[in-house]
Amino acid sequence: MKTTNNGSFTIQDVGKKETFYGWVQKKRNLGGLIFIDLRDRSGIIQLVVRPENKNYELAESLRSEYVLKVEGEIAERENKNTNLATGEIEVMVEKLTVLNTSKDLPFEIKNDTTALEDTRLKYRYLDLRRDTLKEKLITRSKIMQITRNYLVEHEFIEIETPVLGRSTPEGARDYLVPSRVSKGSFYALPQSPQLYKQLLMISGMERYFQIAKCFRDEDLRSDRQPEFTQIDLEMSFVEPEDVMTLMEGLLAKMWKEIKGVTLTTPFPRIKWDEAFDIYGSDKPDLRFDLKIQDITGVFKNTNFGLFQSVLENKGMINCLVIKNKANDFSRKDLDKLADVVKTYQAKGLYYLKMTDGALNGSIIKNVTEEEGKTLIQQLNLEENDLVLIVADNRKITKTALGELRRKLGKDLGLIDESKDALLWVTDFPLFEYSETEGRFMAMHHPFTAPLEESIPKLLTDKASCYAKAYDIVINGYEAGGGSIRIHDHETQSKMFEALGFTEESAKEQFGFFLEAFDYGAPPHGGLAFGLDRLVMLLTGTENIRDVIAFPKTASASDLMTDAPNVVEEKQLKELAIQVEK
Ligand code: AMO
Repeated sequence: MKTTNNGSFTIQDVGKKETFYGWVQKKRNLGGLIFIDLRDRSGIIQLVVRPENKNYELAESLRSEYVLKVEGEIAERENKNTNLATGEIEVMVEKLTVLNTSKDLPFEIKNDTTALEDTRLKYRYLDLRRDTLKEKLITRSKIMQITRNYLVEHEFIEIETPVLGRSTPEGARDYLVPSRVSKGSFYALPQSPQLYKQLLMISGMERYFQIAKCFRDEDLRSDRQPEFTQIDLEMSFVEPEDVMTLMEGLLAKMWKEIKGVTLTTPFPRIKWDEAFDIYGSDKPDLRFDLKIQDITGVFKNTNFGLFQSVLENKGMINCLVIKNKANDFSRKDLDKLADVVKTYQAKGLYYLKMTDGALNGSIIKNVTEEEGKTLIQQLNLEENDLVLIVADNRKITKTALGELRRKLGKDLGLIDESKDALLWVTDFPLFEYSETEGRFMAMHHPFTAPLEESIPKLLTDKASCYAKAYDIVINGYEAGGGSIRIHDHETQSKMFEALGFTEESAKEQFGFFLEAFDYGAPPHGGLAFGLDRLVMLLTGTENIRDVIAFPKTASASDLMTDAPNVVEEKQLKELAIQVEK
């Protein structure tokens, strides 16, 4: 058995005879001396073979990624390498054994690789030999250990729930698994263990957690995978504050142990409405301050037709002020920014610049002297400031400026990368109006508890109902989310009615679940973190594939195993499935 770690030896070990195992990272022949960097999971140690050494010929034949067993004595190096943990020492090889050879590699194993991601995904097992990826998997493992220890210390029990379950409506598209035994019937892979964990509360488990695989057949992005992992938990007899406080403790522990950073708790809590108004997002990046400002009042008597029609339709006029950068933005740059807001359905982006002590810009002809003065005062405008304006309904105005804020934060280097900004966004709207469905839908799921004051409005004023729901947002990412759940029959029935379910249709789709609530369901609530996203944040990558051992591409395929793939006709027959040609 291998009992040594190549990266752990130091100058203190000089004179020791040891056995080393690993892969040939690099071999150099310098003036007859052969130097080999031997890599294992822990790091690299340098081997030396002199011309008179009986292993010399074998050493000369070594190539990258050969697997070696080496016996030798640790010696002090003449030329020390301070960049390497083991840079003060080397191993004088006494016995060299080649345990395996390797073909020429499809790409070089080095951190700053230029190999295409598709090639690296096809040979993922080789890509994982690179330190950068290996370190991320090690951090992922540590995060899981910290989580387990913390939650078990806080009286949670780890319970597994089924992967083969039943398809329930709402949420993303399901991955389906055909049943052989009940032909024509399908299991669904869980989008999350939501229903099971609530049932476990009804079972009296009080505090549950699981590191759970979840599956969602949705459009992929750089922070989304079809198969991902949640740190999922649920607690009985709690209020939102209890869940948030306990989870802050877990995150503080992760940040301390992984990054050595002490987080200040409690994290800021911002209500959804405020986050949307000020940052145009329910996952604002608070590492920079740029806020959306409301200038509707300035234009209440405007003669500008475009603004007039927005105001007549109960819309708003909002802006971002970019300090001291007006001259950095050409017409072309501003046109590009206009394209950004247009992708979020805004009709256009208007701008004003403070130059030579006065306002200029695309809409200056439509701004009266009075309005100009008020703007300068309200926005504290100074020379070389740029005002970027969107006028539309609230949803479009805020979303478009929120996305612009995000882009400018990155492009203008406004983000303070040296710190992480963690916050809770609370009090989400309970319902969301779907233009395509032409009705109000549950923003989270139909079991999310309304705020007490929203209960009387469930049927009469859906747009102003809010939920006991909370998201943990880190550096502009939604790292997790949860809520207190409805546990009483009356509120649940009202909620279903508000969502347009009849009693029968609710029973048909959620019957087994609803029935359980008739047998003494305790008040409960919980949360799920996206584990992959936490690892991304703690390892500083923006690519979710970097933190998953065997990830899928943006088109949901695994290039290494070539999945998904066709199956044999016989398998389809057994499942009574015919594939449309
Ligand atoms: P939600 O759907 O918000 O809540 O998911 C919780 C967290 O999981 C992560 N996440 C993802 N990560 C990677 N790829 C994906 N496709 C993906 N989808 C979601 C996010 C998100 O915040 N059952 C509820 C939780 C609860 O109410 O307790 C749920 O699943 O970080």
